[in-house]
Amino acid sequence: MSDFEIAPSVLAADFGYLMRDIKAVEGKTNYLHLDVMDGHFVDNLSIGVPVVECIRKYTDMFFDVHLMLTNPEKFIKPFADAGASMITFHIECTKDPEGLIKLIRSYGLKVGISIHPHTPIEEVLPFADKVDLILVMTVVPGFGGSSYLNGSDERIAAVRKAIDEKGAKTFLSVDGGINKKTIKEAYDSGARYFVAGSAVFGAEDAGKAVEELRSCITMS
Ligand code: DX5
Ligand code: ZN
Repeated sequence: MSDFEIAPSVLAADFGYLMRDIKAVEGKTNYLHLDVMDGHFVDNLSIGVPVVECIRKYTDMFFDVHLMLTNPEKFIKPFADAGASMITFHIECTKDPEGLIKLIRSYGLKVGISIHPHTPIEEVLPFADKVDLILVMTVVPGFGGSSYLNGSDERIAAVRKAIDEKGAKTFLSVDGGINKKTIKEAYDSGARYFVAGSAVFGAEDAGKAVEELRSCITMS
């Protein structure tokens, strides 16, 4: 039993063959990361409710929905109805994080809070024991294939410390630039839930890529 999880990010999948790509990782991990972008909070658009609803018909994987959008409160019910297992919102996108946490939990879902690399890490620390997952963005959100940012390790370590000091079981996630080189560095800094897009779906064999990422931690 390992103490960490890997969540392939479908942003890097071939959307023309989305279920084929999801099936390629289904037996290798239970977690699937789904990026939702609005063109406001981030400079890009991606998938939305109808796609989540459609893929839910064909898999029981845990759907980790990463909302990169303003007004997240408007989209909790639609994504809950579509089959999300967890909804992660950005701390920068709400004035009422407590209310949003309650709203997400009211649908029986797990809750995550994400933080942009330009936001002081202190803003998320008070939530270390209030949510199921804290997502430290390790790239500027909006695009796949960016490089793991310098300074990420210190930010991950600060969240790790806050979680441990509170004796919480909160998952500490990283997203952006995670590959065979950076995954161990992020693990050593305290991350335990690794989102990986291009490192998984950019590989010849996505399922094997998940196993290889896992072994970068377990074999070292
Ligand atoms: C980017 C998204 C990520 C993205 C990561 O803003 O939130 O989930 O898919 O892509 P890679 O792993 O290619 O950096
Ligand atoms: Zn993401």
